[in-house]
Amino acid sequence: MKKIAIALAAGLGLAVAADAQAQGNYPQRPITMVVPFAAGGPTDVIARIVGEHMSHTLGQQIVVENVAGAGGTTGITRASQAQPDGYTIMMGHMGTHGAAPALYPNLKYDPAKDFAPVGLAAGTPILIVARKDFPANDLKGFVEYMKTNGDKVNMAHAGVGSVSHMTGIFFNSVIKAKPTMVSYSGTGPALNDLMGNTVDFMTDQIVNVAPQIQGGNIKAFAIATPVRSPVLPNVPTTKEAGLDGYEVSAWNAVFAPKGTSPEIVKKLNDALVKALADENTKKRLLDLGGVIPSDAERSPEALQKLVETEVARWTPVLKAAGTKAQ
Ligand code: MLT
Repeated sequence: MKKIAIALAAGLGLAVAADAQAQGNYPQRPITMVVPFAAGGPTDVIARIVGEHMSHTLGQQIVVENVAGAGGTTGITRASQAQPDGYTIMMGHMGTHGAAPALYPNLKYDPAKDFAPVGLAAGTPILIVARKDFPANDLKGFVEYMKTNGDKVNMAHAGVGSVSHMTGIFFNSVIKAKPTMVSYSGTGPALNDLMGNTVDFMTDQIVNVAPQIQGGNIKAFAIATPVRSPVLPNVPTTKEAGLDGYEVSAWNAVFAPKGTSPEIVKKLNDALVKALADENTKKRLLDLGGVIPSDAERSPEALQKLVETEVARWTPVLKAAGTKAQ
């Protein structure tokens, strides 16, 4: 009996040693970063910008995998169920890890319990944008048009619970309008239709729409932040444009599945923090109007706290707006 116990202990010891070594040598192969929306949208763009520099630090390629659907919850559900070995991470955000519980009664994950938070990647102010030839030239005119033409106006979004969806229904509840909602696999494709004049407007993250506003391909009525963005100095804030009660900025953050070891989370967080300190990476995010997290905002603990406060913040707002995923 004693021999079996010794053999088992030895085996266990070897397993623990092997696991410790694997973590110590992590990463040994490419890492998949799940982006829960179509390529080309804000979540994808932020993932690729920070992922590129993280790859240098980690010495292994971070490979983005776009898994769209259900406002981002399809991709996040899949990534949350991956092996917690550090080889699958994900780019979540204010929708997938803030709004989703209020909108998906049968959500297959708890944003505050089912992840190992890695760190905040970028803040993304929200803009109210419309197709170039929309028959309104300022926010006041747009709101009046929305109030009188309601369901004839089409609002694009990236699925129930996405940032574009939640900030859109928040906007509609503030101005008391009910546009027709048009769902996309991401606001990358939605922006194409906005530029093609086949959808009317959306509320979207600055990193997606800033280049097209600067290029005059879509119009921006306002930015939903207290102050203007340095990359869009001519776009008024919602307050300046005469709309009170609509200020909102989104955020995008890296998560790993629950159970990922603290050693691996630390390596991932170190790589993310180094990316945000890298001048070129910072410039790419800032040039798109992104907001670089402060030092205090960059830790896994800070992200955990953010998720908890955001779920608590958005649940009553979205329930009051009365929207539920099918
Ligand atoms: C959203 O929540 O609207 C997404 O960020 C859109 C996207 O990334 O495509």
